[in-house]
Amino acid sequence: MHNLKMDELAIPICASSALVDRGKGIRFLVTAGGEDSTGFAIRYDNTVYAYLNRCAHVPIELDWNEGEFFETSGLYLMCSTHGALYTPESGRCAGGPCRGGRLRPITVFEKDNQVFWRPDDYIKPARA
Ligand code: FES
Repeated sequence: MHNLKMDELAIPICASSALVDRGKGIRFLVTAGGEDSTGFAIRYDNTVYAYLNRCAHVPIELDWNEGEFFETSGLYLMCSTHGALYTPESGRCAGGPCRGGRLRPITVFEKDNQVFWRPDDYIKPARA
């Protein structure tokens, strides 16, 4: 992996077909600011988005039931603990106790029917 800069790394998450529009999200392991954490990817209006799985209200994971990120209308991501709502495209708080906050985005892209994420300055690959 020498000569490969961190921002060129692409880490596979899942097959593109595993992410159904407004369906279940897929979690993946990351290291965020030096702490073991998870990210999650979802598909919304046929675009894949990913965020750090950490509520802007209290820093805990959003999905009480694994992979359940959308609320029932399929329009917002919801934290299952106190109901914070986030806009899927931007991660901005759309209602509830996350007021003014937002989810931390993670860069994702699709290539050859696979979904990949890219580490950045804060979100790094999971420690082995
Ligand atoms: S911890 Fe997410 S809404 Fe309170």
